[in-house]
Amino acid sequence: TQRTLVLLKPDAVRRGLTGEIISRIERKAGWRITALELRALGQETLEQHYGEHQGKPFYEPLVEFMSSGPVVALIVEGERVIEGLRALAGPTDPIAAAPGSIRGDYGVIVRENLIHASDSEESAEREVKIFFPGRA
Ligand code: GTP
Ligand code: MG
Repeated sequence: TQRTLVLLKPDAVRRGLTGEIISRIERKAGWRITALELRALGQETLEQHYGEHQGKPFYEPLVEFMSSGPVVALIVEGERVIEGLRALAGPTDPIAAAPGSIRGDYGVIVRENLIHASDSEESAEREVKIFFPGRA
């Protein structure tokens, strides 16, 4: 069994979509939410989390957006949950995301795409340590 780090981004919190998104996660049989916290992200946390994108043209706007309001951070555990949550979220660009996925149903533009989910077991372990150091 796997675990993954999920962030409901500031647009999800502002638009009142966190309950809807959390419901979709809870409905998935065999998955469990094992940590959940509403919090504001500082520059240091964001640099750690999105460090792989430093230097890219979208990095500064991404960090600015991610610090524009609180996020909801979760750990979700279950069978193939990393792959599953990426599928539930849909592709990065909401325009390319199929209806039925979170980004396909609610996403507007690529920066404001509602949700982050770890993209590999390695990323998941790294990101859990950043957001929930006690759960490492
Ligand atoms: P995350 O779960 O947030 O990591 O999204 P992802 O894994 O689907 O995408 P990726 O890690 O490649 O990019 C991180 C975030 O940067 C995305 O969710 C977008 O918000 C933003 N982003 C990625 N690519 C672009 C881009 O080409 N343009 C802009 N404006 N933003 C981008
Ligand atoms: Mg990513």
